[in-house]
Amino acid sequence: MSDDDVELEARLEEQEVFEPSEEFVEQANVSDAAIYDEFEENWPECWEQAADLLDWEESYDQVLDDSNPPFYEWFTDGSLNASTNCLDRHLDERGDEAAIEWVGEPVDEDNVTLTYNDLHEKVNEAAAALRDLGVGEDDVVTMYMPMIPELPIAMLACARIGAPHSVVFAGFSADALATRMNAADSEYLVTCDGYYRRGDPLDHLDKANEGLSGVEHDTDTVVVDRLGPNGDDFGHDLAANQHDWGELMAANEGAEVEPVDRDAEDMLFLMYTSGTTGQPKGVKHTTGGYLAWTAWTSQAVLDIKPEDTYFCSADIGWITGHSYIVYGPLALGTTTMMYEGTPDHPDRDRLWEIIEDYGANQLYTAPTAIRAFMKWGPEYPERHDLSSLRLLGTVGEPINPRAWKWYYKHIGNEECPVVDTWWQTETGGMMVTTLPGVKDMKPGSAGPPLPGLDVQIVDTNGEEIDPGRAGYLTVNKPWPGMLRTLYRNDERFIEEYWAEYSDTDSSDSEDWVYFPEDGAKIDDDGYITVLGRVDDVINVSGHRLGTMEIESAIVGVEGVAEAAVVGGDHEVKGEAVYAYVITEEGQAETEEFRAEIVEAVEDAIGPIARPEQVIFTPELPKTRSGKIMRRLLEDIANEDELGDTSTLRNPDIVEDIRQVVQGD
Ligand code: WTA
Repeated sequence: MSDDDVELEARLEEQEVFEPSEEFVEQANVSDAAIYDEFEENWPECWEQAADLLDWEESYDQVLDDSNPPFYEWFTDGSLNASTNCLDRHLDERGDEAAIEWVGEPVDEDNVTLTYNDLHEKVNEAAAALRDLGVGEDDVVTMYMPMIPELPIAMLACARIGAPHSVVFAGFSADALATRMNAADSEYLVTCDGYYRRGDPLDHLDKANEGLSGVEHDTDTVVVDRLGPNGDDFGHDLAANQHDWGELMAANEGAEVEPVDRDAEDMLFLMYTSGTTGQPKGVKHTTGGYLAWTAWTSQAVLDIKPEDTYFCSADIGWITGHSYIVYGPLALGTTTMMYEGTPDHPDRDRLWEIIEDYGANQLYTAPTAIRAFMKWGPEYPERHDLSSLRLLGTVGEPINPRAWKWYYKHIGNEECPVVDTWWQTETGGMMVTTLPGVKDMKPGSAGPPLPGLDVQIVDTNGEEIDPGRAGYLTVNKPWPGMLRTLYRNDERFIEEYWAEYSDTDSSDSEDWVYFPEDGAKIDDDGYITVLGRVDDVINVSGHRLGTMEIESAIVGVEGVAEAAVVGGDHEVKGEAVYAYVITEEGQAETEEFRAEIVEAVEDAIGPIARPEQVIFTPELPKTRSGKIMRRLLEDIANEDELGDTSTLRNPDIVEDIRQVVQGD
């Protein structure tokens, strides 16, 4: 490093508050701080501003109906179609502009640009094809696809005909697919033959077929041919209820499908996510509120303008991709990018190369990726001209100040504001973050709640606590993008998100408080630092996993008596899976048995849930009432000082386990 660099590093390290540049503020979509007061005074009507970003078929009567909390309704009696909002209305002005820039794995150089006209055409054909198969309004269509253009095409086709989609991350296992299709009674699946990973073709249909064999009802499947001749080796023949995507599209060439008029509160999609129990939760999002929320936050926080080329490196199989690759950006008529593959193939400059090639204006990525970039070193971004970037964003997990500053300096050249956005699958879109053209940034702290949101940090009794102290994050007023319920399970919806801090007998919405299960603290300026989950959910590389789901996979292995899974700190992944296992009498605790356990987890959930360590132990630390003390297991994994063991039934076991893990 040169002396200048050393000086710069030292200055950055000290600096705790960063101002957005004047240049950014001048052009920002939102740059007037008055928005915070305006929204507070004019709540909930302030959200008309979000609804106004959309084209409504029938205008709504009421912004918010809160007569039956927590079953809030937004933009009541309004109707619209999400695909019209993402496509048709842009055709006159932006028909020939790129809607999606798809960058495939660099195997065959077949990158694809879909203009709004192209995308509109393909979505219509796909909508006609799905209808031909029998898909009707409100039928749930499952998608099990990697990052290929057919995924957003299929999603928007579903939106066009009023069929909710349920996208299952392609990295999830066959079992996970079956569980989700069964839970949603989904009779349709769109998938593909395979895809590329680090240059090699990967069989995907095999996994899809295995999942389908666990589905309890009849299904129809559409299969996209992604690999062409490179997939021949897999030797797949389509069964009678399996249809070739290309043939269906050809048969519907030039078809036009009238968009179905959807009520604002009609379901746009379902997304299964992990929670405290073993069963994933089917989060229901609606057409009006969700689309308004993602469009408004895309505009206000990501500063997206129609002429931008916007790049979010997430996978569409997670909520970030739904909200901020597909719906938000396309509703605004911008160019949204999607890439297939990994950031380190063919080299560790993949993202920087893409940004340079396409002149991307925003980058929205996850802290886990930033930590990996840091580890690889600045020489990779330095090879490329990243001057097209105007704004950087992060999502998915807390970002430590060092990683934040590295991102700010080496990717943003100290010119781009960084928005650290806290939100969840359930919130539909961003909740806590700075408005980049209005607020200063504080590395490590997501920022204040967005205008119109009432977020408080409380203690276990729900009392607001003083700045600086750790407590629980709560949201005290509804917002348009919120989940409406858990699919077919209103009771669990109340139990999971509201029961903790609400007066559940009350019909006054003021008595209802949403609890996202995150710990947080607030500073004197109202900036919130999110500390992480306080339930049994762990966050591995920004992917949300339920420890109960992993545990139930492990106890399913013959020879396992009991298991406890916790998250331990990990330099790049944020958290890693630590599995503590008690074997049955007579079961040898061998490496083979460890491998068997790891494989069982991969089969049940997917490689992302793969345990970093499997630790055999004769007992688990338990309270006198028999509850496993996970906190202690986390302390061991993190090599932290051990918490209080005095309430344990078997305090000695903690030291025994610690020795096994830490090896002294
Ligand atoms: C965590 C992803 C700190 C949090 C959009 C939340 C974050 C969970 C941040 C939701 C952030 C997300 N800072 N923590 N900026 N963003 N989280 O449903 O624990 O996959 O509850 O949604 O990720 O994960 P999900």
